[in-house]
Amino acid sequence: MTTIARIGIVTVSDRASAGIYADEGGPAIHDYLTKALASPWEALPRLIPDDRKQIAGTLIELADHEGCCLIVTTGGTGPAPRDVTPEATEDVIEKPMPGFGELMRQVSLAKVPTAILSRQTAGIRGRTLIVNLPGRPRAIAECLDAVMPAIPYCIDLIEGPRLETDPAVIAAFRPKK
Ligand code: MTE
Repeated sequence: MTTIARIGIVTVSDRASAGIYADEGGPAIHDYLTKALASPWEALPRLIPDDRKQIAGTLIELADHEGCCLIVTTGGTGPAPRDVTPEATEDVIEKPMPGFGELMRQVSLAKVPTAILSRQTAGIRGRTLIVNLPGRPRAIAECLDAVMPAIPYCIDLIEGPRLETDPAVIAAFRPKK
């Protein structure tokens, strides 16, 4: 039996969720995963305002009730008063995975000096890996290119479904046992 991996795609934006402008981040994550993943998966998209409780509640719903193995957020990682995605993520994770934010800031810094303004983080809740990305649509591929090679093995380790990538797009790395 093939397990269909469920992946939460959470856009955090006051203005996009109010319909002031279109959500570009969520679709950019969806496009990226469509190109990168070779195994079956389904997207669970959410578009919510920059509200700490609502973000945390959405992450819990996608992890605990919808059974997502991976949740990718976009937006709300900066220093502005309403930017609280990393705090909401920290509210719900059991294990911080600081390497994700460190690596994404490092590769992003080669593209833009303001990459240090992103407080993006990642962590594990149960059998779910949660990864924050910045809000700029351009940042999405830049950041996912850096961390995607390690995500399938991370999901193996938390006993999630086996994710396969298209090696022509991005090669997943699994250490030999
Ligand atoms: N990272 C990448 N790869 N590319 C970018 O353009 N923009 C930065 C930073 N990280 C950026 C990036 C900027 S300008 C900000 S303010 C922070 O991400 C936080 O963005 P957010 O609050 O929309 O999450």
